[in-house]
Amino acid sequence: MKTAICPGSFDPITVGHMDLVSRAAAIFDRVILCVMVNGEKHHMFSLEERLELARAAIASLPNAQAEACGGLLADFAREKGACALVKGVRGGGDLDWETQMAQINRDLCPALDTVLLPARPEHLHISSTLAREMLRHHQSLDRYIPAGAMGALNRIRQGKV
Ligand code: PNS
Repeated sequence: MKTAICPGSFDPITVGHMDLVSRAAAIFDRVILCVMVNGEKHHMFSLEERLELARAAIASLPNAQAEACGGLLADFAREKGACALVKGVRGGGDLDWETQMAQINRDLCPALDTVLLPARPEHLHISSTLAREMLRHHQSLDRYIPAGAMGALNRIRQGKV
């Protein structure tokens, strides 16, 4: 069984992430969406909230599951017996960064390769950063957040006001 990991902050999960996980689930036998801590970022949602949103979003994908990890991605992948990481690229900036990350992760776990999937053109402008900005300005997120996660997002937002 070929297992792939889709890692990220997912702060919050977007329709772009959802497309990536769906495409990975069509290629690999099992996909684990791994909600992680990015030491370079201040997260708007807690690890538990981000996991709840991710789980709700991918509930319709039978061979995908979501887990949280506060440690090293390479250790998580090794523990799960994964052969690949799957990341999305929206342009040159993403490509440069993800190429470096792929190399670091392969240094840490030589059996672990990274598959980069190009974002769909209609998702090129979508990011968690943009979704957070829309949230701060109380804008509708219907076009940015997967439909399955909207209920959980509204519940979490109500709990914060
Ligand atoms: O969605 P993001 O913020 O671009 O995801 C980045 C993430 C969380 C995948 C990356 O920061 C990460 O892998 N963090 C876990 C710690 C780790 O393994 N770092 C790489 C080796 S130092």
